[in-house]
Amino acid sequence: MSNETREHIRDWWRTDIVNVEDGNIRYRGYAIEDLIGNVSLVETIWLLLRGELPDPKQARLLEATMVASVNAGPMSPSCAIAAMAITCGVGLNNAIASGINALGDTHGGAGQQVMERLLLIRDSDGTDMHAKVATHLEQFFEEGGRFLPGFGHRFHSVDPRAQRLLELIDEATADGVVQGEYAKMVRAMEAELTRRKGRNIPVNVDGAFAAVLAELGFAAPLARGIFVLARAAGLLAHAVESQTEGRRIKGPVPDDIMYTYSGHAPRALPGAQ
Ligand SMILES: CC(C)(COP(=O)(O)OP(=O)(O)OC[C@H]1O[C@@H](n2cnc3c(N)ncnc32)[C@H](O)[C@@H]1OP(=O)(O)O)[C@@H](O)C(=O)NCCC(=O)NCCS
Repeated sequence: MSNETREHIRDWWRTDIVNVEDGNIRYRGYAIEDLIGNVSLVETIWLLLRGELPDPKQARLLEATMVASVNAGPMSPSCAIAAMAITCGVGLNNAIASGINALGDTHGGAGQQVMERLLLIRDSDGTDMHAKVATHLEQFFEEGGRFLPGFGHRFHSVDPRAQRLLELIDEATADGVVQGEYAKMVRAMEAELTRRKGRNIPVNVDGAFAAVLAELGFAAPLARGIFVLARAAGLLAHAVESQTEGRRIKGPVPDDIMYTYSGHAPRALPGAQ
């Protein structure tokens, strides 16, 4: 093999993230044996994604978003799916992956969309943030938008996770760790949405999660990526609990409750006697 071909193949797998040689593993240049026992999982996630270790106060904020997102109750679709999947004879990896596959724009994945909107608002014309938020929402509804990502919740009139995350941004702002501009924006969006709809539509965990990640300078798609990492822990717990119960093929409701059939009455095939 020519040197040129060899280089071509090596470059195919070019990475800045990790280097592995015989007896030596380095993440972003740091030896694994130095990281183990000294650096938290959240700090390691930050290191892998961003290239540098975070300040401990930044890491605390990131960790808070992950704690907030771990679980949303046994009937939240991702958790319920993981709990059902494990009773079908699959492994824990399949059960977790099944739950993760239910995370989308409406359930758990809205953070990415919120972040994209926060950045759009930030970059829109004008200096008055409240006016920029109002214009953004005006356009959203004019263009046929119905559910603004990051707001509203099926159960919570006030989402305790969102409130706590916003509080932590406030504390970090006072501490000079972040600017606090996205927390203000999310609160202005909540107020404007509530004014427009004439009913309370609270900022939810995805909205506050996105505000934290925007404050910390993450790219929008990572809002979904990091949410998925955190929720995987909750899905693991539900799958293990469900497995421990010993039930086989757990369906969405107890077996003695059937569904409503609304199709055609029984009939014979055309041409049949
Ligand atoms: C989470 C969600 C599905 C809960 O919906 P819900 O409480 O069942 O809301 P409903 O479908 O009963 O709607 C109730 C009213 O509130 C409005 N509403 C609820 N959430 C809204 C939102 N995010 N933006 C605008 N209006 C909203 C609905 O338009 C509806 O008003 P209408 O009667 O005038 O049509 C919904 O708020 C939503 O899709 N939010 C955006 C996605 C998101 O952030 N998901 C993450 C959840 S943690």
